[in-house]
Order: sequence, then C-alpha cells, then structure tokens
Amino acid sequence: MTKNCRPAKKGIFLATVRANKQIGQRFYRLRLEFSGVGAEAFAGAKPGQFAQLDLSRTALPAAKDIPDELANTARRNILLRRPFSFANIASEENKTLADILYCVVGPASLRMTTLSAGDSVSIIGPLGNGFLVPEGKKKALLVAGGMGAGPLQHLAKVLTADYPDIEVMAFAGAKTAKDLPFQARLDKIAQQLGFSLQEFAQYGIESLVATDDGSAGWHGLVSDCLAEWLDQATLVSKDTIIYSCGPEAMLAKVADIARKNEIDCQVSMERMMACGIGVCLSCAVECKADRPGKTVYKLCCKDGPVFDSREVVFSV
Ligand SMILES: Cc1cc2nc3c(=O)[nH]c(=O)nc-3n(C[C@H](O)[C@H](O)[C@H](O)COP(=O)(O)OP(=O)(O)OC[C@H]3O[C@@H](n4cnc5c(N)ncnc54)[C@H](O)[C@@H]3O)c2cc1C
Ligand code: FES
Repeated sequence: MTKNCRPAKKGIFLATVRANKQIGQRFYRLRLEFSGVGAEAFAGAKPGQFAQLDLSRTALPAAKDIPDELANTARRNILLRRPFSFANIASEENKTLADILYCVVGPASLRMTTLSAGDSVSIIGPLGNGFLVPEGKKKALLVAGGMGAGPLQHLAKVLTADYPDIEVMAFAGAKTAKDLPFQARLDKIAQQLGFSLQEFAQYGIESLVATDDGSAGWHGLVSDCLAEWLDQATLVSKDTIIYSCGPEAMLAKVADIARKNEIDCQVSMERMMACGIGVCLSCAVECKADRPGKTVYKLCCKDGPVFDSREVVFSV
C-alpha cells in the first residue's frame, strides 16, 4: 500500500490458535493469535502478503473424516512449510489476530482441520509483497476466484478504512455454489442473481457472485461477469484499478480484460513454494523483460506474490 510503506519485520513466530471454524464442505477459517514481537510483525502485514506455516506435527483427522480423494496422500510426511495469505488482520489489546481462509486440498491443509483453540503453530512471516494502491485511484474492483477471496477480504477492509475516496466493488466466482468460500448460506445465494456477500458487505462493499454452472449468482466465469459489468459501467479507466486473486487461468483472463479496458491491474500469483524467502528458486514466475520479446524469471515469494498484470507471462 502507499501509506505506511515501511514493511513489517519478518521472523519465525509461534501463534496460538483462537478458533478453526468450518464454513463449507472443504473450507475453514483459522484464527491465529500473536503476542509480543509476533504481534508487532503481523500487525503490519499488508493484504496479499503471506506466511509459511509448519504443519509437520499437526495431527491427522480420524480415518472416517479423511475425504476419499485424499485417502492415498493424507499420510504423507509434511516436510515443507505451506504458504497461506490472510483474510483479516485485527488488533486486540496487545495481541494481533490473523485469519486464514483455507481449503482442504492435500495432506497439510487436511491436518490444519484438526487445529483447535490453544494449539501452537510455528509461522514464518509476513512474507512477500502485497497489493499496492497507486495515487489517484477512485474505484477498485476486487475479482476473486475460489480461495482467492481470502486476501481480497483483507484488502477490502484496508481500502475502506484507509482510502475512503476509493469506491470498492467485489466479484467472487467459483465452479459451483458449494465451492464459494463464504459464510453466507448458499441456498440464499442460489436464489439471487446479484448477492451482497457478508464478508464484503460488512465494509459497505457491494459484491457480485458468479458460478461456472449457474448454481449461484451470475451463470458463467467470474472474468466474463467482470467484462460484462465493465461494458455497462461508466467509469474512468485511469481512475480505476483491478485487484485479482485466484487460479492462474482466471488471472490471465482478468489481465486481458484489464488490458483491453486500459485499467491498471494487480494479480496475486501462486506457485509451489519450498522456502518462501527467495533462497530455493522453486517459485519462478515468467515476466516480461524491458527488451521486447525477452522474458526474465522473478520469484513469487520475494518479488510477488502480487505482480502488475502487464509484466506477467501467464503459463495457461
Ligand atoms: C502466496 C500463496 C498464498 C496462498 N494462500 C492460500 C490461502 O489463503 N488459502 C488456501 O487455502 N490456500 C492458499 N495457498 C495455497 C496453499 O499453499 C496450498 O493449497 C497448500 O500448500 C496445500 O498444501 P497441502 O499439503 O494441503 O496440499 P498439497 O499436496 O501441497 O497440494 C495439493 C494440490 O494442490 C496443488 N498446489 C498446492 N500448492 C499450490 C500452489 N501454490 N500453486 C499451485 N498448485 C498448488 C498441488 O500441486 C496438489 O495438486 C496459497 C499459496 C501461495 C503460494
Ligand atoms: S519459495 Fe524458495 S525462492 Fe521462492
């Protein structure tokens, strides 16, 4: 962000689990509490930054609670920390509370579901570069695909608190209604075309839902929903910015829509990460170089995960 530019000092901290609430079939919201130096470090975490969680000693759920599709991989050892960004950062007395919205996709995120109040988690962070707010913007469009909703919820909060001149609007998409990682009741979402998701409405932000199969909200890709909305909107391109987080194919489409509409756009990229601090070189993102036709590799964990969409060579 442009205000308060001093980056939060990163380190290895122990966080205490405050809550770990299931909000959908495969979605959970984990609330972590930091105290002391950790509280200071994470109080300064910017939307889009992330942390590496050590889940190697976290217990597996009981066999009956392991989804069939993870039966073969669930028992794998968790050698590497896993990266997660934040859906909210809040202060409470001298503590910092950090929320992670997560989806169960493999052995580490499966183990996360067994964390309960009072457990400790080792965390490295805050890491990477978050979203930036260029001077003079008056409208911000947040475009989330699936789990990309987490960091954009944090951004929504910061934009409304620190940038009152910027009007914010959110778009949230998923393949189908049950893949929307929101606490709102999905049957309610399904009944409505446009729906104000509570996670954004709490900041006074209007939101539009899109699902690929039409089971909730607008029928189609969230990027197409954005494109159609832009076709009908009256806004000044140079005053507008798009922030997007989600699967790379969606980010590529959003970047293309931004380019055609001459709107600035920042995308939060995902890569498999080993170290998270720029040492192992496992998280390369191909980017355009200054010379035409040439590309360079940047590191998602250190140079990103947020990039200007014009510089990324999307791999889809
Ligand atoms: C900067 C950053 C922020 C993230 N924030 C969140 C978040 O807020 N919430 C959330 O649920 N997830 C987030 N992720 C993704 C999360 O790190 C992975 O889902 C997690 O590592 C899964 O661990 P696992 O052991 O459960 O599954 P794994 O066995 O590690 O992965 C399961 C499947 O997902 C694929 N996968 C895992 N990680 C990635 C990745 N980074 N990019 C592409 N494919 C991947 C694997 O190839 C595999 O097919 C983030 C990733 C990055 C890089
Ligand atoms: S994860 Fe090691 S360099 Fe990025």
